[in-house]
Amino acid sequence: MNDILPGEVETWQFLEAAARRVFSLHGFSEIRVPVVEKTELFSRSIGETTDIVEKEMYTFQDKGGNSLTLRPEGTASVMRALIEHKLYARDPLNKLFYLGPMFRHERPQKGRYRQFHQIGVEAVGVDHPSIDAQTLAMLSHFADEIGLRDLDLQLNSLGCPVCRPDYREQLLTFLQERLDALCDDCRRRYQTNPLRVLDCKVAGCREATHEAPAMLDHLCKDCDDHFSAVRSYLDGLGTSYSVNKRMVRGLDYYTKTTFELVTGQLGAQNAVAAGGRYDGLVKQLGGPELPGIGFAMGVERLFLLLEGSRCEATKPDVFLAALGEKARREAFNRMHHLQRRGIRAEMEYQTKSLKAQMRRADKLGARFVLILGEDELTRGVAQLRDMADSSQREVELARLEEVFVPSPNPAATDATCA
Ligand code: HAM
Repeated sequence: MNDILPGEVETWQFLEAAARRVFSLHGFSEIRVPVVEKTELFSRSIGETTDIVEKEMYTFQDKGGNSLTLRPEGTASVMRALIEHKLYARDPLNKLFYLGPMFRHERPQKGRYRQFHQIGVEAVGVDHPSIDAQTLAMLSHFADEIGLRDLDLQLNSLGCPVCRPDYREQLLTFLQERLDALCDDCRRRYQTNPLRVLDCKVAGCREATHEAPAMLDHLCKDCDDHFSAVRSYLDGLGTSYSVNKRMVRGLDYYTKTTFELVTGQLGAQNAVAAGGRYDGLVKQLGGPELPGIGFAMGVERLFLLLEGSRCEATKPDVFLAALGEKARREAFNRMHHLQRRGIRAEMEYQTKSLKAQMRRADKLGARFVLILGEDELTRGVAQLRDMADSSQREVELARLEEVFVPSPNPAATDATCA
């Protein structure tokens, strides 16, 4: 679990602001759900036999004896909220996004943490392939917006309750003949969750399952048509992708379209974002029969990819330097008024020499320094130094409002990013 420090947080703010901007352009609204839910919400939705539920959840009993869990992902909580507040009665298509911390007790490594952050989206209510393509195109729009390059959007279809049982039988037959070549985990998965065998990273398992049947080749007509249509919408948009027949997901709720946005730059933790369709989930959690699709991005992984183009911390518009106690008091008052008018103003709080104050202004990266001396104060003027070219001019204190004009939306300019 990491601290996010000044100097890093600007990149986080940049990513969050870009997500809010892009997602709202695509008609998604933010939803905020608690970080703690009843344990059974996750075991029922993610699946009892998944790694997340079997090994990775932070689960505890509260004082009332209820079993609670720090959320390992956001989809289950958003579906719980959708059902609890009957959001589907307000709108037949709910397009929602969320951001915040998630918790999984995994072995930490680069790009994998125990508290990590996701920016996720869910579109619930429509199963038309155009909404799959829309969701994928939005992910690609976001990646372009923040300047990510060399990513591979990989697609697969995991079928539905009509075609998956047959496929599962075929996979079991295939695996049965190769059980001796599989690792202990996969021999267990063979019993509980055979599709996950295809996702095993152990070389022996990969080799043994090289020619395993793929779900994509065993789709029913409905799933097959759906997948072709998603592809044709993406082709129409010019959104590039590849098909990865071996992709399975670590959560059990997926049906039909699944996808991962993969990078070659993060070693084993190569999925920057992942998601898919989950048409049975809302019903399974006690809601009406509503289809859904979504994805979540790992913010730490986005951060690692962006580190080359770090965002700059916010810099003061003006640093007020004062000579003498009377001028310091004047500078203090002026600074406060400037701040209230939306100007980023700073000063040195302790009594320091002008040289030390200039050094501090320089360190903070102030655009201007306003130097107030006692003599000048009596004349109602100050020296304004432009730190970019070291030029200096006299300004009237009564006309400072004309000198410093606030930017239209200071909150939106928290960080500038290359
Ligand atoms: P997921 O594949 O488990 O899917 O996680 C999505 C993304 O979260 C991953 O691709 C990765 O970028 C990031 N992530 C996951 N675990 C960690 C970790 N331990 N440390 C750092 N980053 C991590 C889900 O969570 C689904 N709820 C996504 C979804 C939304 N499907 C439909 N809607």
